Amino acid sequence: MSAYITTNGQPREDIKIVPRKVSFDWNGVTPNFIPGDPVTSHCINTLHIIFPMGENAFCRIFNEALPYLDDDPKLKADAIGFIRQEAMHSRSHQIVLGHYETCGYDVQLLADKLDSFVATRSGEKVFGLFNAPNEWMRRKWLSHRLMVVAAIEHFTCLMGVWMLENKSLKAAGANETMLDLLCWHCAEEVEHRNVAYDIAMYVSGNNHFQRYLAMIMCVPLLYKFMKVGALHMMAQDPTLKGQKISFWKAWQGGAKRGLLPGFNMLMRSTKRWFRRDYNPEVEADTQQALDYFAISPAAQAAEQRIAG
Ligand SMILES: [Fe+2]
Ligand SMILES: [Fe+2]
Repeated sequence: MSAYITTNGQPREDIKIVPRKVSFDWNGVTPNFIPGDPVTSHCINTLHIIFPMGENAFCRIFNEALPYLDDDPKLKADAIGFIRQEAMHSRSHQIVLGHYETCGYDVQLLADKLDSFVATRSGEKVFGLFNAPNEWMRRKWLSHRLMVVAAIEHFTCLMGVWMLENKSLKAAGANETMLDLLCWHCAEEVEHRNVAYDIAMYVSGNNHFQRYLAMIMCVPLLYKFMKVGALHMMAQDPTLKGQKISFWKAWQGGAKRGLLPGFNMLMRSTKRWFRRDYNPEVEADTQQALDYFAISPAAQAAEQRIAG
């Protein structure tokens, strides 16, 4: 792979970000996709609720950023590739939600509520309240939102590496189709890990203060969304009827069994974001993602559909 240097001075592999048009057969897959471990299953199921609203917001913010990238064609091409990949992720998780509805879980209402909460606060109106009065303010508000996307993408990359290296989910008998969906999504997160960061730094003029602020704002929100989604699923699970479950303890239990990333690892990685020389390039290895695409049933089928 050839390399290039960003306007921020960081080296990057020169790769083309392209979406893979995957599809999955959810027939027979239940929300308890890890046998005997409904609590951990729902800690992961929360991703199907929060990813579509988050990724839809990413696409809207990136579309708004495109006119600001005219002077950097490589960045603009990456932004378009990113939008297409995230749109496909959102759609794929949305299909799982639809399937869970047919399994008797009421999930769409919560997903829609979260979607409208995020949509009103991540649009062109500053914090959903008023229109930016001038171009300076418009750009500042845009770069703030891009920084929030970049901060969240730090975690999706981290989750990507964790997932691609994880052996415990498979050993626990987790459903293969669900694992393929999660690993395909995670591999694309690893693949496009630099894009949001590079665009946010470009549009903000390398504003590190905005970068730190974005992470401080998004960590509690992310935790809250994950918790709300997981508890919502657990409350509807007949196998957990009457049980009072702490999300924190549920997550720690899953992490101990190697089925979820541990909070300590998440905290350590958050600290790295606050380093002045933070570089998403070194947070993961693109080859690891490419290796997964080569064995992913969904990615391989998508490739054959194109070839055929
Ligand atoms: Fe994604
Ligand atoms: Fe992403």
